[in-house]
Amino acid sequence: MGNEIYIEDCRYHVGEEVTIKGWVRHKRSSGSIFFIEVRDGTGEIQCVVVKSEVDESTFQSCDSLKIESSLKVTGLLREEKRAPGGYEISVKSIEVIHIPEEEYPISKKSHGIDFLMEHRHLWLRSRRQWAILRIRSKVEKILRDFFYEGRFVLIDTPILTGSIGESAGNLFETEYFDLGKAYLAQTGQLYLEAAAASFGRVFCFGPTFRAEKSKTRRHLTEFWMLEAEMAFFNSDMNMDIQEKMISYAVKRALDECEQELSILERDTSKLEKIEPPFPRISYSEAIEILKKKGFSIEWGDDIGGDEETAISEEFSKPVFIYNYPREIKAFYMKPNPDDARTVLCDDLIAPEGYGEIIGGSQRNDSYELLMERIREEGLDPDKYAWYLDLRKYGTFPHSGFGLGLERFVSWICGLQHVREAIPFPRLINRIYP
Ligand code: 4AD
Ligand code: MG
Repeated sequence: MGNEIYIEDCRYHVGEEVTIKGWVRHKRSSGSIFFIEVRDGTGEIQCVVVKSEVDESTFQSCDSLKIESSLKVTGLLREEKRAPGGYEISVKSIEVIHIPEEEYPISKKSHGIDFLMEHRHLWLRSRRQWAILRIRSKVEKILRDFFYEGRFVLIDTPILTGSIGESAGNLFETEYFDLGKAYLAQTGQLYLEAAAASFGRVFCFGPTFRAEKSKTRRHLTEFWMLEAEMAFFNSDMNMDIQEKMISYAVKRALDECEQELSILERDTSKLEKIEPPFPRISYSEAIEILKKKGFSIEWGDDIGGDEETAISEEFSKPVFIYNYPREIKAFYMKPNPDDARTVLCDDLIAPEGYGEIIGGSQRNDSYELLMERIREEGLDPDKYAWYLDLRKYGTFPHSGFGLGLERFVSWICGLQHVREAIPFPRLINRIYP
């Protein structure tokens, strides 16, 4: 048996006898030769089995191999310009681990999305899904690196919470022993604010939950959010760091995901343009743009998905829309001192119609004004006593934001729908597999 290697390390082992372990992606034969494409999780390689060069049983086992059979292949690793990937194995022997009894359900022919989602556990093995989820994995590391390099402290915020983080409208709730209702976290923000008063600059990165009734290409019921909170940051500084983070992450993703992006046939020229500064328009300016583009929208209305797409078409970079009307934003945002109708906040809209990828704001740091808003929203002040304490003991200007990971990954990959940007998507009509 040869040296066991991973396919991604082929270039270090040319001329050696190697063994790889994996699954059959594809097989074809021309009588006395089999070409077997094997994938091992790190890559794919063509294995060539020549009848005259192997023993009888190895050649026969090639005949019985089916798509997704698992096996061990041993042979001479050669450079081969004509082979996909540039390397090939001249097979000496094959050890079959398992041959499926049934035909693999996912074939080269095109399947409907419902079928693929129902077989998500198998669909993950396809080349496209492999590329997307490897990009997701790398992007998560890149984002974490940005915050560690910026000397932020990671704070793991709770998933089970006693107070509503964003809005009452889309909560998952559960009975919590003798303590009444608990909710699955919509955000880690409120806890990050407490931590910001201890550590200055903090971030969290975990699953968040929204019982969104929306069946759009941008909504999941469980999604991952990267949130940051910075003490002594105002709304402008908040936007500055968001554009730095996005530019850093896009640049590194382009450098580190070249192979995956080419599998996805992503037009990367659009991503190469992403660098600070990003255009910033006020909510009022956004409404004017939309009216000019023929939308029937009035000052005070929320800006929905189609409207976001229309605005993003005006720019080649992500665009900030800042200072929305207070009625359509969360209770914790700081009132705009220059226009009481609005709050100091920003939504970052991605190019190419990917919609809002970040929501951020300066936080209300006045005990009285925050209490007023909590009452107005019909929330129970007792449940927010701890949050109000932050305004009682050394209150401080602070700001933060949340990036939706799946929307960000969808944009980088150029996907039609966020459901492909997460391994096992949770949607209002899907919790299997
Ligand atoms: O705008 P949102 O609701 O902001 C917050 O939760 C703040 N507490 C964040 C903060 O300031 N710390 O959500 C932030 C981002 C959105 O811009 C979007 O990218 C993503 O989270 N998001 C969703 N992604 C997928 N499915 C959903 N249902 C989403 N809801 C929000
Ligand atoms: Mg938002």
